[in-house]
Amino acid sequence: MDVFLTGATGFLGGEILMDLAKRKDVGKIFCLVRAKSEHEAQERVRKVFFLHGDFYDENRIIPIAGDLSEDKLTETLIQNKSLDSTQTIIHAAANTSFSKIFDTMVKDVNIEGLRRILKWSTQLKNLTTFCYVGTATICGKNILNRVVLEEESPDVNAEHVVSYTYTKMTGEQVLHDYLSDDKILVVRPSIIMGDSRPWAPRSTVILWTLATVNLLRLVPVNPLAQLDIISVDFASQAIVELLFAKRKHQVYHVSSGMAGATNALKITAAIEPHFNHRPPFKFVNTSHVKQMVAWAKNHPPKPGDELEHNTTHLNYWNDIFESRGRLRILLFALEPYLEFMELGQIFDNSKLIEDTGIKQPLPAHEYIKNSVKYLEKIDVFEGAVDP
Ligand SMILES: NC(=O)c1ccc[n+]([C@@H]2O[C@H](COP(=O)([O-])OP(=O)(O)OC[C@H]3O[C@@H](n4cnc5c(N)ncnc54)[C@H](OP(=O)(O)O)[C@@H]3O)[C@@H](O)[C@H]2O)c1
Repeated sequence: MDVFLTGATGFLGGEILMDLAKRKDVGKIFCLVRAKSEHEAQERVRKVFFLHGDFYDENRIIPIAGDLSEDKLTETLIQNKSLDSTQTIIHAAANTSFSKIFDTMVKDVNIEGLRRILKWSTQLKNLTTFCYVGTATICGKNILNRVVLEEESPDVNAEHVVSYTYTKMTGEQVLHDYLSDDKILVVRPSIIMGDSRPWAPRSTVILWTLATVNLLRLVPVNPLAQLDIISVDFASQAIVELLFAKRKHQVYHVSSGMAGATNALKITAAIEPHFNHRPPFKFVNTSHVKQMVAWAKNHPPKPGDELEHNTTHLNYWNDIFESRGRLRILLFALEPYLEFMELGQIFDNSKLIEDTGIKQPLPAHEYIKNSVKYLEKIDVFEGAVDP
């Protein structure tokens, strides 16, 4: 089976590429990569393999230079006759930014870029499966503190925390404009954080959130709100297993479900012993975010501001931040993540487990110890300005 994969240089796509490359029933893997030349595309893919010493077979792994935001992408792919053998497309590339500054780009890459790939896919005579990597969070912010089923999305009335999830929802709808139902597979990961294996995760996406919370120590979120978090190795294994499984459904959550659920209290408790030099974690109500932002802007406290009772943490912030503006940058970037954490959504994964037979994933508070040593290496400010 020849596969065309987008997003191979990313966090999840890189793992999917490694898992596919190890399978004997996978033939060529064409990887769409942003690069100025085929040579640069090849170097970028080579790096993906070298990160953990995986074998890079140049005869099987074929980089294709291309950008989802280029108008000519469809035409370029159509003209490349070597791609005609493609049987499976895995579309894992996306612009995953939560920042409003990038909204136009997010929309263009995630919706128009998808259309560009879909238009090309309709020309492929051998195509059997188009696997669209969506996100479970398309269910929106009105669902609170309960288990969510696949059938509940896409819901056009869902309210979105960030435009990114709106574009991912629209992406699911767009698939049907181009492909028949039998060719569509939608996989919806929940929140992918870190790697459950004892090595450097391919990317610090989401782990940035934990590194920031770990630095701040005063955390404005409900510590008991349920969180659906999975490791990147589980996400990749689940998606690749689904590709080869006898599937009974078109849409699957790739998620922790209730069996692997966690919460902020359990995750911070798991990392706390490794950072004794910092004040203990303290959870406060989300209403504190506004007070924290005001404090970071040097505004005098308002009467009744509860934040002022947290002197240990405020003194600690004065010590660690060169200026309060630095704290403001972190809080600004962290806010949408805190909003997601507060929702208490768990995504049912029984369809995935039933159809693939894979084991339930380890809860994040159990595997996160493998990422502890990488947390301090994350430049939280860089992550905040370049989300
Ligand atoms: N991480 C999560 O928690 C999570 C959860 C649910 C769903 N997902 C979904 O999983 C997929 C992968 O996410 P991720 O976390 O792996 O993101 P990521 O690490 O940011 O990787 C994104 C990938 O998309 C590529 N890409 C971005 N813009 C592109 C463009 N204009 N043209 C071509 N390629 C482009 C990137 O290429 P460059 O290397 O050139 O930037 C990179 O390979 C996405 O579809 C995302 O929506 C992720």
